Amino acid sequence: MTSRITYVNGRYVPSREAVVSVEDRGNQFADAVYEACQIKDGAIIDLRRHLDRLDRSLAELRIAAPMSRAAMTHVLREVARRNRVENGYVYWQISRGAAPRDHAFPAGVDPTFTATAKSQDIAAAALRYEKGVPVITLPDNRWERVDIKTVGLLPNALAKQAAREAGAFEAVFVDAGGFVTEGSSANVWLVDGEGRIVTRPADRGILRGITRSVLMEVAAAEGVPVVERRFTVAEMKAAREVFLTSAGATLCPVVSVDGETVANGAPGSVAARLRRRFHDIAERTPI
Ligand code: PDD
Repeated sequence: MTSRITYVNGRYVPSREAVVSVEDRGNQFADAVYEACQIKDGAIIDLRRHLDRLDRSLAELRIAAPMSRAAMTHVLREVARRNRVENGYVYWQISRGAAPRDHAFPAGVDPTFTATAKSQDIAAAALRYEKGVPVITLPDNRWERVDIKTVGLLPNALAKQAAREAGAFEAVFVDAGGFVTEGSSANVWLVDGEGRIVTRPADRGILRGITRSVLMEVAAAEGVPVVERRFTVAEMKAAREVFLTSAGATLCPVVSVDGETVANGAPGSVAARLRRRFHDIAERTPI
């Protein structure tokens, strides 16, 4: 379901009437950053950490925050509430603003702030947890600053579409050295032979997922060791378990990679255990 009410620069309007300028820099240069939080059982999940990451993204691009964190929190709760979302997502984006087209930064322009919220198909997500999902691998052809959460997502969108056309749920990017970076919209993990969960260090090659960070706390609480190191596609195919993390999917088991079955082809117990505990540890901001 789409967002019925959209927040645009200070107003809550029917989504059909929500407009930004054609010359918005988000539109012409992908000069914009975004965040997306899960909404679960009437609460926004891990909002504080998403706001921290947004501050960092804005600072990296030298875009001014459009309002205080308290005011932004109010807007996001209001957008979720007005769209009556109990389970789903809230998405918000800040561009540098609208100005006559010129690659260099314009002076004296206010950022454009938009926010939407939509409900999730819970049954489809439950099926993915139960059955697991196939993924394909593709060369990582993105820019070097994927640690900044910008709306410059064309390679990600093309990769996701390639996955869809291959009958897979997600595309996993692989760097020039043959090491997995991350999915088109998720971080990637494996469970090694010793039962440790392994994920790539959050250097500039990946986005530092909030779900990834919280999962590390969940793993600590569950006594599951975490290793941050790079791994190859071959290691992923030979792993005990593989899974994805994102605010959208929380933790989603992967059961095949490029058509090759992972372990016995069924979701593993470590992923299931961590997913069950996740929302005991994640922070909740009631709508
Ligand atoms: N995507 N890596 C990429 C490239 C992502 O786009 C995302 C999230 C993640 C996981 O980050 P987090 O755990 O903070 O959601 C990793 C969001 C959900 C999106 O684009 O809709």
